[in-house]
Amino acid sequence: MIKEEVRKVVSKAKAAGVLRLVFHDAGTFEMGENSGGMNGSIVYELERPENAGLKKPVKILEKAKGEVDARRPVSWADMIAVAGAEAVSVCEGPIIPVVLGRLDSMKPDPEGRLPEETLDAFGLKKCFQRKGLSTQELVALSGAHTLGSKGFGNPVVFDNSYYKVLLEKPWMSSAGMSGMIGLPSDRALVEDDQCLRWIEKYANDQNLFFKDFKNAYVKLVNSGARWRSL
Ligand code: HEM
Repeated sequence: MIKEEVRKVVSKAKAAGVLRLVFHDAGTFEMGENSGGMNGSIVYELERPENAGLKKPVKILEKAKGEVDARRPVSWADMIAVAGAEAVSVCEGPIIPVVLGRLDSMKPDPEGRLPEETLDAFGLKKCFQRKGLSTQELVALSGAHTLGSKGFGNPVVFDNSYYKVLLEKPWMSSAGMSGMIGLPSDRALVEDDQCLRWIEKYANDQNLFFKDFKNAYVKLVNSGARWRSL
């Protein structure tokens, strides 16, 4: 039922914003502090600078959530977790199974937990490590940037072009708009030997990327989640 309602509102053009919402809800998780994570608190955090642009995807999902709630209440955390998976699938990416039962937090998560886009690979790895995510998972999840307008192939097709483009380092060229491709955090990954090995693997094998992205996504949407007892 959730998938059905999500499908009605998440078109290819809206998929990138919806997928980004997942990272900004779940990415507040800190293992050491045992706080933050996939708890729907993003709806209280939309005024934060790092969440600029995310009001729209929340608004889109509000409609679907209203329809589901009328039949059986669903948490924001479940709603966003399912919607992100559907966004990937609408854009021809892997099918990702999402377990339900997350509880929502009633307050915003602590600030300053999402990675700054200016971090280098060392900083990104450390930041993901604090969330229980490995270097491989950092590289696989960053492949989400294949969606959207950062210049990694077709903006509405979820494929491995992110890695292929990273290996070409188009930002080094002065031709046309190539200097605009990628965020500093994307460019930083190719400069790190450990990340580079995964980038090469995913550039050469889309099925491996899909498999690893799926597993890392499932881990991300379970990060810090508190579950309804059955
Ligand atoms: C590794 C650290 C990350 C950083 C520093 C980062 C930062 C950013 C920034 C600054 C943007 C906005 C780009 C723009 O339009 O100007 C963006 C877009 C996006 N991010 Fe990330 N991100 C990270 C990881 C992730 C992860 C793990 C996911 C999801 C699994 C994700 C999903 C997206 C998507 C789908 C967009 C495109 C949104 C759109 O075009 O509407 N990002 N990211």
